[in-house]
Amino acid sequence: MSSPNLGPIDHLIPPLYPASVYALPDLDALDAIYDGTSPGFIYARDGHPNAARLADRLTKLERGTWGIVTGSGMGAITAGLLALVSAGDRVVASNRLYGKTTKLLRQELHRFGVKTTVVDASDLDAVRAALETEPVRLLLTETISNPLCRVSDVPALAELAHRSGAKLFVDNTFATPVLCRPLEVGADLVMESLTKMIGGHSDVTLGFLAGTDPELLPTVSAVVSTWGLAANPFDCWLADRGLATLDLRARAATANAARVAGWLAGRPGVSRVVYPGRPDHPDHDLARRLLPDGCGHMLCFELAGGREAVNRFLRAATGIPFSPSLGHVATTCSHPDTTSHRYDSPAEKRRQGITDGLIRLSVGCEPAEEIEAELAKGLS
Ligand SMILES: Cc1ncc(COP(=O)(O)O)c(C=O)c1O
Repeated sequence: MSSPNLGPIDHLIPPLYPASVYALPDLDALDAIYDGTSPGFIYARDGHPNAARLADRLTKLERGTWGIVTGSGMGAITAGLLALVSAGDRVVASNRLYGKTTKLLRQELHRFGVKTTVVDASDLDAVRAALETEPVRLLLTETISNPLCRVSDVPALAELAHRSGAKLFVDNTFATPVLCRPLEVGADLVMESLTKMIGGHSDVTLGFLAGTDPELLPTVSAVVSTWGLAANPFDCWLADRGLATLDLRARAATANAARVAGWLAGRPGVSRVVYPGRPDHPDHDLARRLLPDGCGHMLCFELAGGREAVNRFLRAATGIPFSPSLGHVATTCSHPDTTSHRYDSPAEKRRQGITDGLIRLSVGCEPAEEIEAELAKGLS
């Protein structure tokens, strides 16, 4: 029996191309791809169909002119920084960034002669002063900060940065492009850890970087290829699938987070609830302006009993896995003191309000009453 000739196949779902290298008909074809006069792929570290498709979809979502997928969120931050800064340049960074981002600037890039000034990004006068004291190449902040959900005034920061000749680079991981598109409100570069809500199922490690200036793309592409920051095809394929439900998941998780934050407030043993959608959050008014569709799926709450109370909570709330990441389709929790900000000094943690009783909740898409029932188990 001969196999049927299927002819050209219309794919309902995109194919996965695991190839690390492609076959070319001749030297002219190779030259045309390198010159950019013909589309195509040569070597997966420089680009492959699954990364290209994912980047295309995300670039549209972020309203960028270009976008590139990287092997992790840290890879995307690294690519943006390395494309823009050189030895002797200065970066002004928010003092409330994900711990590894601060480490990247203060330890890694410091070794290559890049200087970093850390400021309170919520204090616009302090940001202005830091930008005006010395020439600055880049201002770096998070739309909603990890873990304590401080909201950055992206339009105001963009204006301050541009007035000083600096570019604004925003980590939008907690907000996602469903709730905020920093490039639309003045940022020059945006990154997302696709490992989180965009991938959405805790089964990929990927990042994404997008921007407004098309002239930056060749430099960013060269950084990603030469520093080996490229993404793996299967992860891109999975994240592409995750994108189909991103809007639904982000909105459902955001609605749940707003409800759960209210439920947690005032419970016995809970000394603090941190969520920008609550009127007692320091950035509540800004959040309503910048995030009209909701304040995201991340919140924190503090147990009055400190570390031991957290241990008891984790052992009892078995339906909310202690899982030091975020953005999963179901609710998970983490403990910033011993995970994302583990290596910060005690003084630094005190400054940020990261105590040993603080739990970070990544709210998922389950029915809200299921989440509340699990939290009640933990709190009892
Ligand atoms: C706000 C934020 N940005 C960036 C990253 C880094 O992303 P990845 O873990 O994909 O490298 C993380 C990781 O937790 C994060 O929380």
